[in-house]
Amino acid sequence: MTAPTERARRAAGAAIDPGFPALKARVIARTGHNYYEDKDDLLYDRLRKRMRIRGLGDCAAYLALLEGAAGREEWAALEAEITIGETFFFRYAEQFAALRGTILPELIEARAETRRLRIWSAGCSTGAEPYSIAILIHDLLGEALTDWSVTILGTDLSAAALATARAAEFGPWALRTLDTEERARWFRRTPARPGLPHGGYALRPAFRRMVRFERQNLLSLIDGSDHTQTSFDLILCRNVLIYFSSDHVNRIVRALGERLNPRGWLLIGHAEPNPAFSQWLQPVALPGTVAYRPIGTPTTEPPPVLIPAILDAAPIPLAPPFERVAAHFPNPELDPPPSPQRAVMPKPVPIPVSPATDHPLSPGDLLAEIRVLADAGETARAWRRLHEEIDGYATDPALRYYEGLLALDLGREREAERALRGALFLDRGFIMAHFQLGLLLSGGGRRSEATRALDNALRLAQGLPPETILPEGDGVSAARLAESARRVLAGITVNDA
Ligand SMILES: C[S@@+](CC[C@H](N)C(=O)[O-])C[C@H]1O[C@@H](n2cnc3c(N)ncnc32)[C@H](O)[C@@H]1O
Repeated sequence: MTAPTERARRAAGAAIDPGFPALKARVIARTGHNYYEDKDDLLYDRLRKRMRIRGLGDCAAYLALLEGAAGREEWAALEAEITIGETFFFRYAEQFAALRGTILPELIEARAETRRLRIWSAGCSTGAEPYSIAILIHDLLGEALTDWSVTILGTDLSAAALATARAAEFGPWALRTLDTEERARWFRRTPARPGLPHGGYALRPAFRRMVRFERQNLLSLIDGSDHTQTSFDLILCRNVLIYFSSDHVNRIVRALGERLNPRGWLLIGHAEPNPAFSQWLQPVALPGTVAYRPIGTPTTEPPPVLIPAILDAAPIPLAPPFERVAAHFPNPELDPPPSPQRAVMPKPVPIPVSPATDHPLSPGDLLAEIRVLADAGETARAWRRLHEEIDGYATDPALRYYEGLLALDLGREREAERALRGALFLDRGFIMAHFQLGLLLSGGGRRSEATRALDNALRLAQGLPPETILPEGDGVSAARLAESARRVLAGITVNDA
């Protein structure tokens, strides 16, 4: 195993370099990324990458560069390096259901007279979030869209993420919760090019032109350097606050609240609500999520709440251990799946332990590392990293599943199929693996096999309470998955007819 030794080496590098603490303090102060407070190894690794590119040997020299004449350009590169840009279209289905079913229709009604909507995606990364909103509004307003003035602003600290956002071309990784029909409706396929060796998906111009992007540091909202006066009907600041200290989080949420129009809405990440926010904003419970509105906003249904009810993802029991995953897997979609739950194992799967640090690299740690790489667009690196380690986690269905998703992103369809079948061999109740396998087989024209896989996904999803968030589904609920599976199945049937 390479990872723990590598981690130990990075941690040692941070400890040995006497300039590291000052550089770390400067980076955290500038970006607000308190997240790195206890992650010296990770931060040092990212700093070292930039130092190497700049031909600098230690942190003091690098800090001098940041504070000098070339600092502006280098800060932009470093910020892109250290920010974590995980995002994908329609991330966290419950929140998008609330946007589609409650928030946007209410706003459209409230603004019917002015026909003006101002929306801000703060910390938008590569744009999947504001573009998902554009798609929703396009759908909701239909032909009336031309009579409306809709502004969707995406802002982020990372200039590199914004460049990708403006280009609006994505790999399958960013579209992983969309079914075939949605992909075709909202995107067009693009030919292979460097960075997307198997082609990508370009967002259709009708949605792309609804969004504009600007660079902005969220700390400017609280350090007095932001002087813009714009206010918004809807602000999304999701999965950004997790990186900040609790003091910064409170001040940012308060400042965002001050930018809301009367009867506006603020949506933060599904795991980010905090009872403290009710000092400045009115929490409103919506199915599976919570939103915030200016205090005093009249509410009809549902009533305001003080403590948000967050729907946690179901726990993921491990699958039965087995000797070794062989090169050939049985066809799990040939047999009906057992039940809408994960198989329960008799024995725990050993977690590899680093001889150098004694810190176990849990499947969750490895998965987090892989996702960071993949979300930064480095799917090939993520794939290689997973392959360095996968033998140590041969019984982990989730890792097999991600191996399949990465292979799909890289256009390695045979390997993707093998990995997804591997995940299903380990866990026949793995709904997302059935679904992704169905999409893959349907794309390859293997209709009867695709139908079986999608039927399995559908049956398993229908066996769960509709609001259940599916393991490894990135927030997809059982109801939405069932709807998607039905839609793809209908497409296969229509094509067959
Ligand atoms: C995990 S992504 C979330 C993207 C999107 N909101 C979503 O939920 O899919 C977090 C984003 O926050 C941005 N970010 C981090 N610190 C920031 C700051 N101080 N100001 C503005 N954006 C920041 C990062 O660059 C990154 O793109």
